[in-house]
Amino acid sequence: MTQDELKKATAEAALERILPHLEEDMIIGIGTGSTANFFIDALAEHKAKFDGCVASSEASADRLKGHGIPVYDLNSVSSLRFYIDGADEANEHLHLIKGGGAALTREKIVAAVSEEFICIADGSKKVDVLGQFPLPVEVIPMARSYVARELVKLGGDPVYREGVLTDNGNVILDVWNMQITDAVATEDKINQIVGVVTNGLFAARAANVLLLGTEEGVETITV
Ligand code: A5P
Repeated sequence: MTQDELKKATAEAALERILPHLEEDMIIGIGTGSTANFFIDALAEHKAKFDGCVASSEASADRLKGHGIPVYDLNSVSSLRFYIDGADEANEHLHLIKGGGAALTREKIVAAVSEEFICIADGSKKVDVLGQFPLPVEVIPMARSYVARELVKLGGDPVYREGVLTDNGNVILDVWNMQITDAVATEDKINQIVGVVTNGLFAARAANVLLLGTEEGVETITV
């Protein structure tokens, strides 16, 4: 199977998982990226069974609206039953690295509001130690150089993602060569640097379920 076929299979497994729980007034949190896009396309066929979605990026909002699915501002929603999103890396604790698509801050906000975070990913995303994928950090533009120097002090090699502005008008530093053995502590430490909006570690709020697409089928991992 191709990587896209694995992504599609995991998106369909997430849909099967939530279908029995859908209610007319339910609002669902939706992530960003190619795996989330497969989920959006599959969800669209069932749009009459729920109210609408909150999106973690303008791109996902546009895709949802393209399917005729209402998109709500998070400020008008007090809780979300599910959040479905992809990841760049996941470990056995369901700690994640996210932000390859630069949507990490909104993703983290929507995940925080959600009762259950279902992470959907192809098998290549499962790792023993997080950090082979460069850790994205969203930074206020004027703090970019300062934050980069502080990240070097923490042992990383930050690289400015040139030409990319987040939906919040900020920039991204991708931090290479981090061996992240304590994801909760690293997430917290990086977030303490002045000028950092947030980083792409999802450890304080990890996923609740990881649906991993493999050649043998979709594996369900919980902690
Ligand atoms: C977006 O900012 C990311 O967090 C994505 O969820 C992550 O990059 C996974 O993307 P794919 O589903 O495209 O692999």
